[in-house]
Amino acid sequence: MEIVICKTKEEASRKAADLIAALVKADPKCVLGLATGSTPVEMYKCLIADNKAKKISFKTVKTWNLDEYWGLAGTHDQSYRYFMDKNLFDSIDINKKNTHVLNGLAKDWRKEVKAYEAAIEKAGGIDLQVLGIGSDGHIAFNEPGSALTSRTRIVSLTPQTIKDNARFFKKAADVPRQALSMGVGSIMEARRIVLLAFGENKAEAVKGMVEGGISQFCTASVLQLHDDAWIFCDEAAAKKLKLKKYYAWRAEEALKAEFA
Ligand code: PGA
Repeated sequence: MEIVICKTKEEASRKAADLIAALVKADPKCVLGLATGSTPVEMYKCLIADNKAKKISFKTVKTWNLDEYWGLAGTHDQSYRYFMDKNLFDSIDINKKNTHVLNGLAKDWRKEVKAYEAAIEKAGGIDLQVLGIGSDGHIAFNEPGSALTSRTRIVSLTPQTIKDNARFFKKAADVPRQALSMGVGSIMEARRIVLLAFGENKAEAVKGMVEGGISQFCTASVLQLHDDAWIFCDEAAAKKLKLKKYYAWRAEEALKAEFA
């Protein structure tokens, strides 16, 4: 695990975007796993800027998103399909047919998740998966207690996640209680992981992920077992880490090697 601690979220987002841009340049047919939430928005802005400046093209890139609220249509302004269109896809040269988000209105969720995983496999698997982290340490909607081997499935959100996400809805009662989500095991199959974490609200979760024991009660902690996971955070999110100076030094070396 490389932990890149930056002064600001803008700096961390730019560095994370650089890793993605390098992949897209090197392999224009790469497969990206994407995430929603407030965290990746700044990084998506960097990728949009790179695309507009013609530094990278998404024309042949394929994407699969982590999750979707169960019961929301893709046209709902709080659905994750809508979010992706507004915050990334509508502003880059990607072919929308190559972008995939789970269908929150699928007639049969079992069929939906099976087909989703099969399509990812057919595409050759995910080259790079973008992740945020919940204040309870979740990745995608893998709430505390999710099996570390879990696959894409329907999940129930915790009261904490519902509370965290209520800011996007008119009232907490409007936040869906369930979602379709890639599993922890599914996420671990991505060849590279790029997780972003910003703000003091994430400090406890980041500590659990990086320095806690591997546990299904902080599903992000399983990333300690991934051999190519990068954590980009600001100083506030890194605040509770014990070895932060060491991580910063090591990450600087790793980034140098990456872009050498
Ligand atoms: P956020 O959500 O980016 O809105 O903080 C992250 C998450 O819950 O994974």
